[in-house]
Order: sequence, then C-alpha cells, then structure tokens
Amino acid sequence: MQPTVTPFFHQPTSTWSYVVSDPVAREAAVIDPVLDYDWRSGRTGTAASAAILAHLAAGGLRLRWILETHAHADHLSSAPYLQSQAGGQIAIGVGIRQVQATFKRIFGFGDEFVPDGRQFDLLLADGDAVQVGGIDGRVIATPGHTSDSVSYLFGDALFVGDTVFMPDGGSARCDFPGGDAAQLFRSVQGLYQLPATTRVFVCHDYSPGGRAPLCETTIAAQRESNIHLRADTTEAEYVAMRRARDVTLDVPNLIIPSVQINIRAGHLPPAESDGVSYLRVPLNVFGRPL
Ligand SMILES: [Fe+2]
Repeated sequence: MQPTVTPFFHQPTSTWSYVVSDPVAREAAVIDPVLDYDWRSGRTGTAASAAILAHLAAGGLRLRWILETHAHADHLSSAPYLQSQAGGQIAIGVGIRQVQATFKRIFGFGDEFVPDGRQFDLLLADGDAVQVGGIDGRVIATPGHTSDSVSYLFGDALFVGDTVFMPDGGSARCDFPGGDAAQLFRSVQGLYQLPATTRVFVCHDYSPGGRAPLCETTIAAQRESNIHLRADTTEAEYVAMRRARDVTLDVPNLIIPSVQINIRAGHLPPAESDGVSYLRVPLNVFGRPL
C-alpha cells in the first residue's frame, strides 16, 4: 500500500512539512514540522503546527512519529509542541550526536546540554524500519548537507530533506560544520538507484524564476534534469560546483535560533532563574567578515 502524503508549506522559511498517513489504519507520521518564529521579538508561534493538527484531527489520524530529516538551520522545529498536542515519538538520525557536539562547542553550552541524542525519543540509523499503520518505512542515511541527514522512504514516497531540491532548484549547501559535498554526492547516488517512479518530496523550495512553490518530483526527473546533480554528473564536477557556490551564500536568517533549539529536539533552552528561556549569539563566529 502507498501512503497518502499531505504537504504543508511554511512561506516565511520556504519549508515543506508533510503528513504521511495510512488512511485505512488511520495512523500518521509528520516530517519536519515548523515552529513559527519572529526574530524581531523573539516570539515563537504555533500557527503552522495548527494546520497540521487540524489535518490529523479531520482524518482521525493517530500521530505515531514526528520525524526530522536533520537538525535544520533555517527554521525551528515544532516537534515538542506537536507531541504535546497529539503524541508520537520524536526521531532523528543518529548523526545528531556529532552535530550536537559541534554546536555545543560553537554556542558555548554548559554541562546541562549533553550531546548524546537523549533529547530525542529515538535515534535512527541507516536501514532502520519506521512503520506507519500498514506502510513500511525505511531510514536511508544521506549525509552531506549535515552529518545527521537522513531520508525516509514510505512505500513509493521518498522524503529527501535537504539533499536535492526540485530539479530546477539543484541541491543543498554543504558548507555548514559537518557538511561535505563529496558525501552529499554519494548520498544522492544512492537515492538515484531507487525506482524511477519513486515520488520525491523536498524539504524546501525557493521558487526559482518566480514560479509557485513545488514539493513533489520523481527520481526519474531528478536523474534527468536536476541542475546540480544529474545521473551523469561526476563527483568532481559536483564538488567543484558546490564549493564555488557555497562560498557565495549568505548565512541562513535563522541559523542562530534554529540550531540551538533544533539540537534540543525543538525544546527551548532551560528557563533561567527569572523563568525566561534565552538564546546565545556567538559574535564573529558565523559567516564572512564584514
Ligand atoms: Fe537544512
């Protein structure tokens, strides 16, 4: 049986979240849910999550899993909020430990933050099974954009996170700490071995050329026409392109709040003695000198 896939677009961060469901067993997984965040005020919000919760309620769907494809650097995860409202287990790739250790150092976190993945309910490795009702899901490790990146294959539906985008959008940057263009190339080669008709669902779409946001393509379309990574693109070509492009890219708008919260599985940092949760800003660490 193939899953029903319902996409949700978060316009402020150009992020696609998904509900993957077995409509017969009435069970679902949510992939990469977004917590709204206003950087000016430091306020978080749950409007994007409310749309997902309404969809779950309308379909009578039990939430079994809240799955992250990686610790995102461009939006905050609403996994804990969704869990508080609808249940489910929060899972991410086991490589999150390495990401946590790296960013614990960069953000100067103290002993309260233990970089062993304990903030998540479950850490997933390549080949692990993730069941949604009668639909078999499988974890495919796809490092490169980040070292914790995984894709999820449910039936014929593949959720690729930040690996490739839509064919006219190319591929994800590989210049974050732990990123590696050659590794991303090899990860995508693995995905390109899946059946040509496999439905591919991307994590972001930045509307290249001003077209409307799109979320779904196929392995065949990616192999034939991805502007960064076709079936006949060599590793050397890809790595050279990726490195040349990555040095021109700005730091993502929300990297500082996103990473601090997402490596905590979406939880805010522990409240301080005044009851307020604070983020840290490492000065002159990210990006290029002004
Ligand atoms: Fe990302």
